[in-house]
Amino acid sequence: MQQRLTWRHQVVLTVCACAMVAAVATRAQQAPAPAATLVPVSASSLLLHPDLYLGQTVAIFGTVEQLLSATTFSMDQDARKASLTDLFIVAPTLQAQPKAGDYITVVGTVLRFDQAELQRRARAYTLDVSATVTERYRGAIMVLATSVVDPAMTDLAKAPPVPLTPQEVAFDAVMKQVNPANAELRKGVEAADIAIVSKQAPLLGKLFTDTKKFFEARGASDAVKWATEGVAIASAVGTAAAANQWSDVRTSAAKLGQLCQACHAAHRVRAEDGTYRVKK
Ligand code: HEC
Repeated sequence: MQQRLTWRHQVVLTVCACAMVAAVATRAQQAPAPAATLVPVSASSLLLHPDLYLGQTVAIFGTVEQLLSATTFSMDQDARKASLTDLFIVAPTLQAQPKAGDYITVVGTVLRFDQAELQRRARAYTLDVSATVTERYRGAIMVLATSVVDPAMTDLAKAPPVPLTPQEVAFDAVMKQVNPANAELRKGVEAADIAIVSKQAPLLGKLFTDTKKFFEARGASDAVKWATEGVAIASAVGTAAAANQWSDVRTSAAKLGQLCQACHAAHRVRAEDGTYRVKK
């Protein structure tokens, strides 16, 4: 029973699919786990051929049929047509319920409903449905969802970002100063300008000292090493400039850029909102 989609649904679907792939790709970059291939499928095809999709990560499109609890609902291909079966969706991180009748896209893993299996896969989660619902979907095909995208393109299952600790906030301010200080220093080095270098080199030295303390508290020895090198290089730059040894100044200053890159590759991540964070 192939059902033709209206153009609106096709547009929504295409847009959703692209957004989902982007979101999944971003997460895949950050998580070391291998990226699963995302299989697009309609809710009705999934119900018709469940065994084709068991264990796979799918992007399902369809209509919200019934809200079952704060983190679960059922889906159907077409709200206007009555159907015997519907698809059970469990979204442990659901922040807001979708609207019944809305055409949505859900990304998640296809399973057969079994409470023990669900608990094993989503450890921090407690299933919040009534016994009637448990009974109704026992052994039925279901989707353990990580994304629930509504018609406004909002991912209702996206947990708000973990807030920064006060230490991370302070460190972010340090890095925001490292960047202009480093840019100024390079200008001063290129122009052999003692006034600029004698101001920026000690500033960078202080900022790298703060960086070192931050990573010492986190027990990240590689970062501590790079920050310590940063302090030493900043000091060497200042000393060489004061002695008018500009070729030494340039040699030392060139090493700073490598430190930035090495530490960022190991300890910096770009969050989904585009801001930088310290890797956990
Ligand atoms: C020892 C590790 C380390 C070194 C060395 C280091 N950084 Fe960073 N930097 C980080 C981490 C971790 C972050 C992410 C934390 C954050 O931005 O809150 C970061 C963030 C940044 C940011 C983004 C700030 C923001 O939030 O907008 C800039 C810009 C930056 N670093 C520039 C530099 C430059 C330039 C250098 C070298 C001169 C450098 N960093 C050296 C660890 C380091």
